[in-house]
Amino acid sequence: MGRVRDRNILLCVCGGIAAYKSAALVRRLGDAGARVQVAMTEAATRFVTPLTFQALSGRSVRTSLWDEAAEAAMGHIELARWPDQVLVAPATANTLAKLAHGLADDLVSTLCLATSAPLAVAPAMNRQMWAHPATRANVELLRSRGVRVLGPAAGGQACGEVGEGRMLEPEEIVAELDGAAD
Ligand SMILES: Cc1cc2nc3c(=O)[nH]c(=O)nc-3n(C[C@H](O)[C@H](O)[C@H](O)COP(=O)(O)O)c2cc1C
Repeated sequence: MGRVRDRNILLCVCGGIAAYKSAALVRRLGDAGARVQVAMTEAATRFVTPLTFQALSGRSVRTSLWDEAAEAAMGHIELARWPDQVLVAPATANTLAKLAHGLADDLVSTLCLATSAPLAVAPAMNRQMWAHPATRANVELLRSRGVRVLGPAAGGQACGEVGEGRMLEPEEIVAELDGAAD
């Protein structure tokens, strides 16, 4: 049985150029039968508007810890309890570092720390950032704690370089999540 259908998936979008692919990812997750709630970092909102994700997910998008109306309704702790699966896609080098070290200085990092749901990350970054010893160590730390690391793939990058660091395609991410062991 798949692990996406009828599941609550909290999709955390970070500030990388691959954020545009996460719009299609919302659609693919929905097609696979998931309920999707999107949270975005402040940087992510520079790449894709919350309105795009709201329209695709049918739910209002959370972008800040300091949203008084949202905190009065489904506050961040309640939101952290909601998902069966948390997926960070794209996962930036910055957010991977924060997750590895337990920082909680924005909505996405706080949700990832406050949830008991399994965490999967789909990194996307320039190949040098991915190859940097700091990123390598952060990813290994996350893996050692049971975080699933989906990709990245190798190929042409938005910066014009070729190498490892491309986010997996939305279909590949859904297929990996769907086949994930408990
Ligand atoms: C045009 C542009 C593209 C970027 N692409 C990436 C990227 O693909 N991966 C990455 O890790 N950072 C990327 N960055 C840098 C991040 O936006 C920056 O580290 C930011 O602080 C990430 O914040 P967040 O992790 O809270 O989303 C990019 C920055 C710019 C201006």
